[in-house]
Amino acid sequence: MIQIFDDKEQLSQAAAKLFAEEACKAVAARGRFCVALAGGSTPRQTYHQLALAPLCEQIPWSQVHIFWGDERCVPGDDPRSNARMAHEALLDRVPIPAAQIHAMTCTRNPEASARRYQALLQKFFEPDAPRFDLILLGLGEDGHTASLIPGTAAPQERVRLVTPVQKPGEDFSRLSLTAPLINQARMVAFLVSGPAKAKILRQVQAGPRDQFPAQLIAPLNGDLCWLVDKAATEQAS
Ligand code: 6PG
Repeated sequence: MIQIFDDKEQLSQAAAKLFAEEACKAVAARGRFCVALAGGSTPRQTYHQLALAPLCEQIPWSQVHIFWGDERCVPGDDPRSNARMAHEALLDRVPIPAAQIHAMTCTRNPEASARRYQALLQKFFEPDAPRFDLILLGLGEDGHTASLIPGTAAPQERVRLVTPVQKPGEDFSRLSLTAPLINQARMVAFLVSGPAKAKILRQVQAGPRDQFPAQLIAPLNGDLCWLVDKAATEQAS
């Protein structure tokens, strides 16, 4: 399902409302809400909206558990850190217990860090398999999502739940949830904004399948929604 909004502000409000609705549903059904946040810049406004009334007061923060879809292996105070952005925009502004924020800490050994985060997920969700109530994702201009980067082994990973990723040209590694884990989610929501994403959005939506990592995202027993603004749907010039 694709929803088109007039601008990024409307998109962000809708995404924040979706987060709040899914949180209330999950807590009512299972006593907790497990969500994996997206990184990058698009979701910042959504996170900001979640920290403001009325949504902030509607969300049962004491039963919310925060995870990440991916993270860059940089210090926590590095401007490139996805966790830092989420803390600035949201997590430092709402009454969520610190123990319920499950950061994707990545040390100098991304391989070991990936294994550690996978173990954290498996322990958290046991005896069930890891399954998020909601995963927020962005879309890169090369068709990546989370850190499933084209040209790396990450998009093809079918066994591991969390994988290390080395994007060519970057002087830092990344960790990413893999497609099999993302596709276990009850709901996956892509947030896509701006004219720079118009071409890739059209290619991902209407082009040949299995061209881009973002096309791997198809929840097996869940919902997929695309929240996009008009600028991201204009015919690319
Ligand atoms: C990351 C993100 C990444 C992001 C897209 C879109 O860590 O880089 O998780 O997948 O969502 O690159 O980024 P923007 O929202 O900044 O366009």
